[in-house]
Amino acid sequence: MADASDRLGRDTHLTHLGRAGVRAEGFVNPPLVRGSTVLHADCAARTEAGRKRFDQALVYGLLGTPTHFALEDAIAAIEGGTRCQIVSSGLAAITVPLLAYLGAGEHCLVPDSVYGPSRHFCDTMLRRLGVETTYYVPTIGADALAGLIRPETRVLFLESPGSHSFEMQDVPALAAVARARGLAVLMDNTWGIQTFQPFRHGVDVSIQALTKYIGGHSDLVLGAVTTADPAHWERIRAAATTLGQYASPDDCWLALRGLRTLGVRLRQQAAAGLTVARWLAARPEVQQVLHPALPGAPGHDIWRRDYDGACSLFGVVFQPEITVESMIAMLDSLALFGIGASWGGFESLALPTTGTIRRSVSPPLPGPAARFHIGLEDTADLIADLEQAFSRLRSR
Ligand SMILES: Cc1ncc(COP(=O)(O)O)c(C=O)c1O
Repeated sequence: MADASDRLGRDTHLTHLGRAGVRAEGFVNPPLVRGSTVLHADCAARTEAGRKRFDQALVYGLLGTPTHFALEDAIAAIEGGTRCQIVSSGLAAITVPLLAYLGAGEHCLVPDSVYGPSRHFCDTMLRRLGVETTYYVPTIGADALAGLIRPETRVLFLESPGSHSFEMQDVPALAAVARARGLAVLMDNTWGIQTFQPFRHGVDVSIQALTKYIGGHSDLVLGAVTTADPAHWERIRAAATTLGQYASPDDCWLALRGLRTLGVRLRQQAAAGLTVARWLAARPEVQQVLHPALPGAPGHDIWRRDYDGACSLFGVVFQPEITVESMIAMLDSLALFGIGASWGGFESLALPTTGTIRRSVSPPLPGPAARFHIGLEDTADLIADLEQAFSRLRSR
């Protein structure tokens, strides 16, 4: 169970989460427990433990160890839910719930801005299983969304903001329409870790790639699926265990270690991200900075209404006359930004997004585009690096 207390401040919370009830012989941290077999006193005790597999019973390694349960308690509390299932990756945290709620002949609604591998899963495996996906414009209004719901629609999937194009979704309005029609509302809330409370906004199942800010050190791949309602919990837990979903206790232990410093890292990186975003927004080569927390940026009003903070991942759209080749030369000449996917680690990253975003119902970004993740470096150094790199930009 989540050991969240609304009376405690967020940082106090992060310091204590997942530590209650874990037998650690007096040591501060929950122990790293590796294992497959769990020994029981007798056959009846084993049968009894099996019956409680929805309740953190120690049955078999695949069903969780004290290390998994400590992390699950902590993530459930951070997300504002009650129960959490750790899975092997952020992508598994997306595919497990989709498989939990969808079957042959059914239909799901997915935003056009969705993380690419989520789209790939819908277009390949879900299609093969007889599930149809409709991609919708991510900034769709509630009435238009209602028009897309069919008798066989079971899932509304949300990802806000889109992790490449940063459209903000009106989660409460869309979730209300979907729930009124009996759909399960699934949300990839990785960008909103700690700053968006999904269950207060109508979400049924919240997805986190722990690989990002929870891990925080670019050294693990892990995912979490969190619920608030017991019926949704049973569905998720049953799907994960049926699929044999597992994560290494070592990675869970690293994630527990990472989350203790989530508060300070996120504050520092969010502030640094906004500093760099403001510098970029003032450059004549830049048409638009896609950072929901930046005043004037697309979706800022929704961010201000629903979020109480931000992370440090955002996009930039260059002026249409800037050539894609020169933008890539600019990114390649950065000395302090690694060229790489993922985000949420301690290091700054950059990635061209032009040509990588697949869409079917919404227009492309209006110019060459890139994504930046701001790490824990000094912002003055990052800005100086960008300044030297910008000299590579050329107009057609
Ligand atoms: C928004 C979003 N969701 C999910 C994932 C998947 O996480 P993982 O790499 O742990 O599978 C990513 C990874 O980049 C992501 O950006």
